Amino acid sequence: MQTLTITRPDDWHLHLRDGAALKAVLPHTVRQFARAIVMPNLKPPVRTVADAAAYRDRILAAVPPGQSFEPLMTLYLTDNTSPDEIIAAKNSQFVKAVKYYPAGATTNSDLGVTDIRKCDRVFEAMQQVDLPLLLHGEVTDHGVDMFDREKVFIEQHLIPLQQRFPNLRVVLEHITTSDAVQYVESASHIAATITPQHLLFNRNSLFQGGLRPHFYCLPILKREEHRSALLQAATSGNPKFFLGTDSAPHPRNSKENSCGCAGCYSALHAMELYTEAFERANALDKLEAFASFYGSDFYQLPRNSEQVTLTKTTWRVPDTVPFPESELVPLWAGQDMAWQMT
Ligand code: NCD
Ligand code: ZN
Repeated sequence: MQTLTITRPDDWHLHLRDGAALKAVLPHTVRQFARAIVMPNLKPPVRTVADAAAYRDRILAAVPPGQSFEPLMTLYLTDNTSPDEIIAAKNSQFVKAVKYYPAGATTNSDLGVTDIRKCDRVFEAMQQVDLPLLLHGEVTDHGVDMFDREKVFIEQHLIPLQQRFPNLRVVLEHITTSDAVQYVESASHIAATITPQHLLFNRNSLFQGGLRPHFYCLPILKREEHRSALLQAATSGNPKFFLGTDSAPHPRNSKENSCGCAGCYSALHAMELYTEAFERANALDKLEAFASFYGSDFYQLPRNSEQVTLTKTTWRVPDTVPFPESELVPLWAGQDMAWQMT
């Protein structure tokens, strides 16, 4: 197969940042995707419908002239989010979900939730108006091993949450383990996004010949058996698993640092990365539904009508791409890729 034409995809988990950083990264996403679920972990976070409306306007203003892109907004859940804000979010039409970060779990999560049960009134309202909850599914207890944080979150928080709110629609974001795959397959009202890095790499990539900060993201890469379970889920044709890059730009000096930030930058070449993973699994025929159908179906939005083409041609991921006052090192910089989206 030399070309692959599919419905234009959407990115169901994306960090766009703000200001000059937003202007630098947005064209990459717009080249590939029609829409994206935009994460609210700005500084300060996007906590209200008014914040989301203003952020949405800044994103739309940064879309390159002549191109189209629809940002789908999210609210950042805090201990103080009110049920009224949830009703307002649903009524806004442009807020599509609410994002839960455990306080301290990841980049800009200090204002996240300190105890998930504190949000039960908010979850009740979300269940009532049918507004999906997006979970950063990791516990933050220092006693829990870094590589077990997702599994323990499912056992201690997610299962009880779904028992308390059986009709609340949930997305377990950027899943990294076979435990998450099995849970999502077995439970109802839940789906999951999967990133390109978790399909292509296992935790050895973090330590290949030395410490490799550009493979460091949260939740962290896991063992090969987990990568293989994720690839199997993504290519299975199960509509509960769909594309979400979690592309998360950090300036090079913040990544290559004695205390480096978590996040991989993949907006530049997301579809090329996913195509590589699907081809290796002999499942190119499953790519379109994963990238372009199942996410819009979950969010109850129309599927895109435009098409895009991926062509089999060798090109090299650049070592860096421009970023304000620094540069970005894209995921798999320097690697030869087999497919290119045109
Ligand atoms: C994200 C970021 O940098 O905003 N980082 C990451 O490693 N994925 C935050 C997140 O999604 O956890
Ligand atoms: Zn993220």
